[in-house]
Amino acid sequence: MYQETLGANPLEAIIRGLGDWGLRILLLTLAISPLRRLTGWGQLLRLRRMIGLFSYFYIVLHLFAYLWFDQFFDWTEIWFDILERPFITIGMVAVALLTPLAITSTKGWIRRMGKNWKRLHLLIYPISIFAIIHFFWMVKLDISEPTLYAAILTILLSERVFNTLWGKRK
Ligand code: HEM
Repeated sequence: MYQETLGANPLEAIIRGLGDWGLRILLLTLAISPLRRLTGWGQLLRLRRMIGLFSYFYIVLHLFAYLWFDQFFDWTEIWFDILERPFITIGMVAVALLTPLAITSTKGWIRRMGKNWKRLHLLIYPISIFAIIHFFWMVKLDISEPTLYAAILTILLSERVFNTLWGKRK
C-alpha cells in the first residue's frame, strides 16, 4: 500500500493515489443505479455521467503519470512493459475499453446510438473486473485492499443479477 503522505517515493505515490481514486470513483459510478433502485431518487441518474467521467479523468491522469514519471515517455520501454507485465497489459485493456464509453457519454451520442448505447456501456462490467485484477496483479504481498474493492464490486454486480432475474427494473 502506498503511503498516504507522499513518502520516500512521491512520484510512485502520485501514480498510486490517482489509480486508487480512479477505481474508487469507478465503483461509485456503478453504485448509482442500485442506489436509485433502493431510494427511488431519479435525480441520481443525472449524477452518473458526471461521476463516470470524473473516474475516467483520474484514470487518464494515472496513465499519464505512469507514462511520464515511470517511463519518461520512452515508447519502446512502455511497449515492453505492456507486453511483459500482465498488470500493465490488463490496465491498458481497461483504459482502451473505457475510452469509447467516455466519448459516447454525451446526449448526442446517446440519441444517435439508440439501443447500441446500452449494449456498449455493458462494457463497464468487464472493465471494472479488469481494473480490480490489475490491482491484484500489481500487489505482491498484502492483498487486503484489492480484496475489499473486489468485495464491493461483487455486491454491486450481484445486485444487478438479482434485479434482472427477480426484480422490477426501474
Ligand atoms: C481502469 C484503469 C485503471 C485503474 C482503475 C487503475 C487503478 C490502479 C490502482 C487502484 C492501483 C493501486 C494503487 C495502490 O497501490 O494503492 C494501480 C497501480 C498502478 N497502475 Fe493502474 N489502473 C488502471 C490502469 C492503468 C494503466 C493503463 C497503467 C499503465 C499503463 C497503470 C499503471 C499502474 C502502475 C504502474 C501502478 C503501480 C505503481 C507502483 O508500482 O507503485 N494503471 N492502478
